[in-house]
Amino acid sequence: MSWIREGDLNLLQKISANVLKAGPMPKHVAFIMDGNRRFARKKRMERQEGHMQGFDKLAETLLWCKHLSIQEVTVYAFSIENFKRTKDEVDGLIELARQKFERLLDERENLEKHGVCIRVLGDLNMLPLDLQQLIAKAVITTRAHNKCFLNVCFSYTSRYEITNAVREMAWGVEQGLIKASDVSEALLSECLYSNNSPNPDLLIRTSGEIRLSDFLLWQTSHSCLVFQSVLWPEYSFWNLCEAIVQYQLNHKSIQKARDLHREHQALQQFEADRACVAELLQHHGNGKPVDAQRRQEALLHYTACREERTQDFLQALKHKRDSFFDDLCSEAV
Ligand code: FPP
Ligand code: MG
Repeated sequence: MSWIREGDLNLLQKISANVLKAGPMPKHVAFIMDGNRRFARKKRMERQEGHMQGFDKLAETLLWCKHLSIQEVTVYAFSIENFKRTKDEVDGLIELARQKFERLLDERENLEKHGVCIRVLGDLNMLPLDLQQLIAKAVITTRAHNKCFLNVCFSYTSRYEITNAVREMAWGVEQGLIKASDVSEALLSECLYSNNSPNPDLLIRTSGEIRLSDFLLWQTSHSCLVFQSVLWPEYSFWNLCEAIVQYQLNHKSIQKARDLHREHQALQQFEADRACVAELLQHHGNGKPVDAQRRQEALLHYTACREERTQDFLQALKHKRDSFFDDLCSEAV
């Protein structure tokens, strides 16, 4: 089964999609695709068949998202916690990923035609080397595409991602690229695996479990969370429409909370810069009072320098991450 499906919606689906699109639509939807094994048990099939049908449902859902003009999708495909499952199941999931990333490379022309960019979020070092190389190839092949984005969280948990972002900032301080005082909520966001994406507008979890299981904890504080009882392989176009209606009903309050948070973050940064400048002036001026104009000039200068410093650091981080993928890819040749 291919990642990119062709096909149209039926007439009723088309009408419903158009009705939905008259309201505010989520631009980025995240899925916790849960319930594959329960589906397999229910249908008396092998567990692995449940995961395979889970992948097929992902491909179908991506097609619906395309018709609904949802440009970005993030999926929880393999949690770091999943390594604790039986060897048999872990091997099966890794093998499924191998097959699907190989397939993805065979479909590169189609991915280019549709402008699909595939990103993989997680710690690839935990995976077998051949799968790391396949993933690196897939990511590099589609890196320049920019019509729609699929983020596959693989070997991922949110707390691991946040810890890793903190480590990256510590690395930046160690390298002399940033100062410890440059660490901020905004900078941490830029160091996450998800730094290239806006936060999801809507997060959907299937199978009736009402928890986030360490998925996108940082990114979903102002997202609409929808929990649906359907098992992932049985997910339907109508389930997706229902979740979008939930988003539309909550859109105003979500937007308000986001705007307030943005304002609060800007204020926090301003206060942090002001505190740093006050300390510098105190230090250099041997405690002598400084007039308001000089203080203002010093603040503007400090802010510009901090922004330049953090941009250079983020550039270095991007280079480090790109090189990781490039090296994997060249080793594979
Ligand atoms: C959760 O159901 C699902 C997973 C752990 C795997 C999800 C993976 C896919 C749908 C395939 C995606 C693959 C790629 C390469 C993108 P579960 O196993 O927890 O089932 P249960 O909740 O019924 O026990
Ligand atoms: Mg589960």
